[in-house]
Amino acid sequence: MPQALEVHMSFKGKNALITGSSRGIGRGIALKLAERGARIAIHYYRNRDAAQATLENVRKLGSDGFLVQADVCHPDEVRRIFHQVRSEFGALDIFVSNARTEAATFYEAPMEITLEKWDTAVDSQAKAFLVGVREAAPLMSDGGRIVAITFAPGGRFGSWQPGWLWAPRKQPWRCWCDISPSRWPAAASR
Ligand SMILES: NC(=O)c1ccc[n+]([C@@H]2O[C@H](COP(=O)([O-])OP(=O)(O)OC[C@H]3O[C@@H](n4cnc5c(N)ncnc54)[C@H](OP(=O)(O)O)[C@@H]3O)[C@@H](O)[C@H]2O)c1
Repeated sequence: MPQALEVHMSFKGKNALITGSSRGIGRGIALKLAERGARIAIHYYRNRDAAQATLENVRKLGSDGFLVQADVCHPDEVRRIFHQVRSEFGALDIFVSNARTEAATFYEAPMEITLEKWDTAVDSQAKAFLVGVREAAPLMSDGGRIVAITFAPGGRFGSWQPGWLWAPRKQPWRCWCDISPSRWPAAASR
């Protein structure tokens, strides 16, 4: 098996926002960035205690940050995340769009899914990403980075039946990445 290549980069002085960093993959990303010196905006939905535990671990790693609560299904709440980032950090260097609603909110076969669940799936992923990029870009100077966490096979082709919505909800992220960089905001074009 090929060995993973680990690149040692310093993020000292950088500010990062990771949505859904109270637990799971988002928490792992937050701690890795904190270990390399980045300050972290830790976003959560309902699980404040888990978010607080992430923040405490960030501090143990010698960095700092703050907590921000929002439901990413609602554009106004996504905007509020960035307003808080502006007031706490002043600027943003890294935005990781990672939050995901619980499987029960979208995981249904095509002939059974309710329209409400469809909306949750698309609003929490595709729409939240669009709004997030628009809010993040003005906070970034040259060299900013925007990362979207997807599920690669499902995001491109769909998946086993109840997981079919991976494609419609994650695919727009791929489309964004495929857009000519000249159409991206300067800070988010790489
Ligand atoms: N797990 C996998 O096997 C896998 C595989 C491929 C890709 N991914 C992708 O990786 C990302 C993270 O997955 P994960 O498994 O680490 O997730 P997870 O452990 O289920 O954590 C979900 C995160 O999203 C937050 N969240 C839930 N509902 C939300 C809402 N309505 N608004 C805002 N935030 C909300 C949660 O906050 P609270 O803690 O406050 O509830 C939590 O921080 C997702 O984009 C997923 O599609 C996961």
